Amino acid sequence: MKYVNVVNGPQNASSIILGCMRMPALSMDDAARMICTADELGINFYDNATCYGTNGEAETRFGDAFAKTGIARESVFIQSKCGILPDKGEFNWTKENILSSVDDSLRRMKLDYLDALLLHRPDLLYEPDQVADAFEILEKSGKVRYFGVSNVPTMMLEVLRKYVRQPLVLNQLQFSLEQSQLIDQAFYANNLTTERSVDRDNGTLDYCRLHDITVQAWSPLQHGFFKGCFVDDPLFPELNRVLGEIGETYGVPKTAVAIAWILRHPAHMQAIVGTMNPNHLRDICEAPKAELTHNEWYRLYLASGKFLP
Ligand SMILES: NC(=O)c1ccc[n+]([C@@H]2O[C@H](COP(=O)([O-])OP(=O)(O)OC[C@H]3O[C@@H](n4cnc5c(N)ncnc54)[C@H](OP(=O)(O)O)[C@@H]3O)[C@@H](O)[C@H]2O)c1
Repeated sequence: MKYVNVVNGPQNASSIILGCMRMPALSMDDAARMICTADELGINFYDNATCYGTNGEAETRFGDAFAKTGIARESVFIQSKCGILPDKGEFNWTKENILSSVDDSLRRMKLDYLDALLLHRPDLLYEPDQVADAFEILEKSGKVRYFGVSNVPTMMLEVLRKYVRQPLVLNQLQFSLEQSQLIDQAFYANNLTTERSVDRDNGTLDYCRLHDITVQAWSPLQHGFFKGCFVDDPLFPELNRVLGEIGETYGVPKTAVAIAWILRHPAHMQAIVGTMNPNHLRDICEAPKAELTHNEWYRLYLASGKFLP
């Protein structure tokens, strides 16, 4: 396993995070086995959210299962996210919702504190002083150690950073070989011949690097918006051919190469993987063995169907 030190945040955090969005599909025993497998593989970071599963079921399943594993609480980082209210059809960053969400997450996961709390998706009616008040209370009470955001673009981060005293140290964003819009625009800037030149997030990746915000890449193996895993999908023959070829060079499976491509980026990102299959997780965790060369990284980018101007 590879580990990252988040500036002003978690230290020695595994660069592969186990995402718990799909955990409601598992029984409690299977969830405990999944967490134990992750632990054996060197994963010490878990991602959850109030909206995963119905009525916080992913947090409940994780909490019940984690308690069964006997893994020491202090040896892992447990993160959750708040602000998406599927039942109400809204995003909500009010002080009241942030505070009650954290209490719910702690209760469901049977924890005294969260290592990190992220605001899940932008609430466009947000009042930054309310976020600041909530974070102040959560930090002072010891309920949350570190703070961050998810899917938040540059200027909104700038506004938040004006009001919030605590450093915002994490930004969770969609990023994979197939969904690479986080980096595409920089290649094609000012190019009228391709849609990829459109700046969709106002330079969020470089903004995060500039301000020591670690990017956590979500859905690192999916194509489209939850359309399925691109590895071994016949829709992506060239990508799978190159993943396989590079995998053979390092003696690792294709999924590991796809994750290695994310970890190779000098921003020292973390990749949040969502598999609930222990064997798939073992494959993925071979990623650090594939320290991709500069050229291999570009070959994979091109094999994913893009071109260089
Ligand atoms: N911040 C946000 O807005 C946001 C949004 C979405 C997700 N997330 C976070 O990111 C995490 C990961 O998301 P994700 O689950 O979409 O990511 P993912 O890891 O890209 O995709 C997981 C899917 O790929 C499949 N898979 C993995 N290895 C495979 C293999 N070798 N062969 C075939 N299928 C394979 C898994 O099936 P198996 O279980 O069968 O392996 C699962 O269905 C979530 O759990 C959540 O924590 C955050």
